[in-house]
Amino acid sequence: MRDGLETRVSEGDADTEGLQGDIAPPGEIVVDPWTGYVPVDISSFSKLVVPNFDIYIPVRGRPVLYSEAGTGPAGWQVIRRLRDRGHGTVYIHSSQREVYLDHIQEYLEEVLSDRSADGNKLASVLYSGTTNLVQKIFEETVTGQAIQRAQDIVSTIVDNIYNWKDILPSVVGLVSHHYYTYTHSVNVAVFSIALAQHMGISEMAFLKELGLGGLLHDLGKRRIDRSILDKPGPLSNSEWSLVRQHPAWGKDLSCDVAHLGDVSRRAILEHHERCDGSGYPEGASRADISLEGRIIAVADVYSALSSKRAYKDAARPFRALEMMKGEMKGAFDPEVFREFVLLLGGA
Ligand SMILES: [Fe+2]
Ligand SMILES: [Fe+2]
Repeated sequence: MRDGLETRVSEGDADTEGLQGDIAPPGEIVVDPWTGYVPVDISSFSKLVVPNFDIYIPVRGRPVLYSEAGTGPAGWQVIRRLRDRGHGTVYIHSSQREVYLDHIQEYLEEVLSDRSADGNKLASVLYSGTTNLVQKIFEETVTGQAIQRAQDIVSTIVDNIYNWKDILPSVVGLVSHHYYTYTHSVNVAVFSIALAQHMGISEMAFLKELGLGGLLHDLGKRRIDRSILDKPGPLSNSEWSLVRQHPAWGKDLSCDVAHLGDVSRRAILEHHERCDGSGYPEGASRADISLEGRIIAVADVYSALSSKRAYKDAARPFRALEMMKGEMKGAFDPEVFREFVLLLGGA
């Protein structure tokens, strides 16, 4: 349970009046009681296990603890009771977002192995997880107005995952194959859009396509065995030659995604090309790599360096940028990289 304003609610206290706060007397500083709380859909809860995060519901405009982490009945009973009371959406505290995301990952695996699960169910779990993932990335990394605008666009993309039949099978395929690649892809989508906006690009069609390119950039990894993707040591020559094919495989697979534009497809194909010609699959140099390819490349490497994996610790943001500037000198478009440093610095 968290300190502060909430008290535990009894079954009879709940209301569903929404989030109107009390009106403060003149001169009083208003602290939004919802600061730090994030909405989650109850359909994203596993039915089998007791939720391991605190659940809050709105009572007279304030978050009130409904059930405490690890106590109370199993998920299916919690869901039924909340639904009976008219709560489709409840709240968690952002300090427990990590636990909730782990819960989502386990539940996704549960849903994916359930042959009777329908697409809507999967989409709603995916949607809830992705929304929280995007929020978490924003809270942890950067702040500022440019980022807020990027967040709106990413949210639109996430909404599209939920409704957009074209893209869902690809995203679901990626999640079920390799969850880390999926979370990494959400990161890349967020950073790419924020970076493009920081560079002064405001054309919405381009930004959305770029974000989708980020989300699908590693789609080709679906053809690579998980044991290779998670291998702690160096790859053998044959494993490496497989990995080098994932951008082209991704572009092939993206042909199945209807209405995906050229910007997205080029971003997928070119995200491992490097300006000094040291990349793959073509070994193209700067003049031959599209702007979207150069943007995704920076977002991709930064995201990979700054995230924790089973076989390596996460580099701190400054260290990750230092490695990109030093050890990978010449790999990135200098202008794009400079903007990225400024973006992360909050400039
Ligand atoms: Fe990749
Ligand atoms: Fe990647």
